[in-house]
Amino acid sequence: MAIRKVGVLGCGLMGSGIAEVAAKAGFDTVVREVSEALLEKGMGKIRGSLGKAVEKGKMTAEERDAVLGRIHGTTSFEALADCDLVVEAIVENLDEKKATYAALDKVAKPTAIFASNTSSLTVTQLAMATSRPARFVGLHFFNPVPVMKLVEVVRTLLTEDAALAEIDEFCRAIGKTPVACKDNSGFIVNRLLVPYLLDAIRALEEGVGSVADIDEGMKLGCGYPMGPFQLLDFVGLDTTYFIANIMFEEYREKRFAPPPLLKQMVQAGRFGKKSGRGFYDHSKK
Ligand code: 3HC
Repeated sequence: MAIRKVGVLGCGLMGSGIAEVAAKAGFDTVVREVSEALLEKGMGKIRGSLGKAVEKGKMTAEERDAVLGRIHGTTSFEALADCDLVVEAIVENLDEKKATYAALDKVAKPTAIFASNTSSLTVTQLAMATSRPARFVGLHFFNPVPVMKLVEVVRTLLTEDAALAEIDEFCRAIGKTPVACKDNSGFIVNRLLVPYLLDAIRALEEGVGSVADIDEGMKLGCGYPMGPFQLLDFVGLDTTYFIANIMFEEYREKRFAPPPLLKQMVQAGRFGKKSGRGFYDHSKK
């Protein structure tokens, strides 16, 4: 296997999960955050998730310690210099991502593959911010990363076959199932999921049903594990709003336009589970 050492940029909801699954699969893993405080918060998420796995008897305390021993936290880019693969999972903002790739490109070894966990930006524009567009892919994980089996692998016009073969092997090594996608905003899953989530908000705005009844309807009527409002709170309303705006910019189609209620909830700081309040109250959990 060509990939031995994995770097992860960002230790939020997605980055911490990606670092966890890479280290669990035996990869030496370096995770970078922009500040010590955010790094500590992200490492706390990883420790919490592994701690739950021990409590549930899915791994021993020794295995947990070995996994944690393979994860190195950093705030520098230099610590990623010898990584064979760097997965970026920072905020869904084009300028921030481009600036991060420019800094990473200066220190990463020329053969390293860069992968973006972007959920809605097109990958080509990110690849072109680096000196290695042939070794650049989209690698879109799903939340919660340790549980969800899917990874969307996005090939651009410039991605070389060798890089895709290495990525395929990596995805399988971490226990995920890759699906191939063209470089279209939202790829496969968000192209279908985002209009569904936005439509649930529109249904609420129109008074079709209450939050609880719409959720119950989709859970019991369609067998979905979560209703759309539970899922919105889980993914984050701010994240969904960013994604919807990017997809609307790209396609100029009404189905991707964020409804006013979503915008207002974001403006009001109701981001969902992460802020304690979204369509549901999470403050007591
Ligand atoms: N980390 C590790 N394991 C976790 C976890 C986490 N964060 N959350 C849940 N689990 C595990 C539990 O330990 C449990 O394992 P077990 O069955 O072996 O004991 C299993 O997952 C089921 O969890 P629970 O019994 O606590 O609860 P649920 O049965 O409700 O499952 C769920 C939780 C897996 C999150 C389920 O509700 C689900 O599948 N929800 C939909 C998730 C989804 O749609 N994700 C995609 C979001 S879209 C996205 O990510 C793309 C982005 O670009 C927007």
